[in-house]
Amino acid sequence: MKKLILSALVLAALPITFAKAQSTDIPHLEKRDNRFALIVDGKPFLMLGGQINNSSSWPSTLPAAWSAAEAMHANTVEAPVYWEQIEATKGTFDFASADLLVNQAREHHLHLVLLWFGTWKNGQNHYVPEWIKSDPKTYPREENDHGKLLDVMSPSSPANLDADKHAFAALMRHVKSIDGTEHTVIMVQVENESGSVGSIRDFSPAAQKSFEADVPADFARSLHLSPGNWTKAFGPDADESFAAYTTAHYINEVAAVGKAEYPLPMYCNVWFAYPVHALENRDRPSAGQEYPSGGPQQANVAIWKAAAPSIDLLAPDFYSDDFTLFRSIIATYARPDNPLFIPECHFDGTFGRYFFYALGHGAIGFSPFGIDRAQQPEVPNPQGIIASAAVGSVNPAENFALFNAPEAQIAQLNLEGKLYTAVEEKGAARQSIHLPTADAVVSFGYPQPDGAYPPGTLTFHGRAMVAQLGPLEFLVAGFDASVSFTVSAADLQNDPNQQIEILRAEEGQYVNGMWQATRILNGDQTDRGLNFRSASPSLVRIRLHKLPLYDEAVHRNGD
Ligand code: DGJ
Repeated sequence: MKKLILSALVLAALPITFAKAQSTDIPHLEKRDNRFALIVDGKPFLMLGGQINNSSSWPSTLPAAWSAAEAMHANTVEAPVYWEQIEATKGTFDFASADLLVNQAREHHLHLVLLWFGTWKNGQNHYVPEWIKSDPKTYPREENDHGKLLDVMSPSSPANLDADKHAFAALMRHVKSIDGTEHTVIMVQVENESGSVGSIRDFSPAAQKSFEADVPADFARSLHLSPGNWTKAFGPDADESFAAYTTAHYINEVAAVGKAEYPLPMYCNVWFAYPVHALENRDRPSAGQEYPSGGPQQANVAIWKAAAPSIDLLAPDFYSDDFTLFRSIIATYARPDNPLFIPECHFDGTFGRYFFYALGHGAIGFSPFGIDRAQQPEVPNPQGIIASAAVGSVNPAENFALFNAPEAQIAQLNLEGKLYTAVEEKGAARQSIHLPTADAVVSFGYPQPDGAYPPGTLTFHGRAMVAQLGPLEFLVAGFDASVSFTVSAADLQNDPNQQIEILRAEEGQYVNGMWQATRILNGDQTDRGLNFRSASPSLVRIRLHKLPLYDEAVHRNGD
């Protein structure tokens, strides 16, 4: 009997179909109605990523990195490629580390995002080869306004730019040669948290000359600025805007030569400007001190978009447990010209909530940092915050465990604008998601006694996703949340004589794009909403229908 029910369920299953797979296409971004998907081998791909520690792309440390990625159910690893290592001698390249990453990722059935640690790493130059570090005459440094040489390369130096372009082009040529058909590598980060630590801008003689000259005409035109020098065009923001333009322009040139070899999607991660807390005369963080000046921070997005068209997206790294800040960062970077992607965040209890916020805003991927941290001593990140290990009972891996199998369906639903999320916040243990055909009411925390407001969770980690599969059919998941469906208030105004009931609720999973139900839920499992507990994550596909609230005749008589 069990077998019969299962096969009937499987037969009833409808796959979410994809446009004909074009596996010869290299990974690329697709845009539909201002929403995005990363397409890998012809299908939308939701990147469930994990970034390894900075010094982990080595034979001795990679085994632990792969195990960590597998343990967290990631489908992609973000791993650095070090300029100092691939070009230890000027003009001679050794790509053994890139080969190792690609081969081992394949063995572990993982995709890769390569992080080019080139001219910039956290607003400094620590990964440039020795032959560059030791020759500041040929490869000029940034200077601060007192003429101090900084450990930041001057973005106004053609020699620096040429050296980075040469190395990055060679890397991309090599990646194409080993991966142009298999597509293990799906995206490339160009530099790491660029900008300058130590000065608001470069005051070296060459930079100073450009600063005093007119803003380049094509750039001025694209930002609708009137002709003139930087001070005239940007007033009090001239120094930082100049830093942003020179950095973006440099990185754009690096990306462009890389794309000419192999045009994978390319992005820049952002050490954004964290707010400072109101002290007199300290109403904004200071560029070059509290964040690297000239990177793609919030205030510089327009400059970067104009000056770096070869960069497909600007992606904020997020290291804070302030969820309102996270929402404001999402609002800044999820734009019609910028797919949302979170390439770094804490690997702790907050990651699950942030993942759901990001999913609900159409993110193409999400990746906590330092997944192989068990093997590394914990260090503060550049924002001065020490990433804590898993908090309380919240298990960071549970998020990706739930979405690993249906990632392609989730990415497709997001591309079509059919995916919604609710995330618990203080004082908001019950929330409504307004779907086009119904409302989903999400209640966080347990127990949920009849008639009482839900208790929420101690760590505000409740979260839920509802995706629209058909007019009244939904895919639902969550953690410490119950989800029920009602007719929306707006709908009731049009026609008060309607109610919603469940026809069928199936718990199951997508296997190769096909929904496979494992059981039908009913009774206690549906009477007070669908229940999602952290201890047993599950996916539910629910089909509802509407019927009159009252018999038409009674209804009429009662009128
Ligand atoms: C952000 C950087 O982009 C990473 O490379 C790493 O340094 C982390 N901070 C450390 O927290």
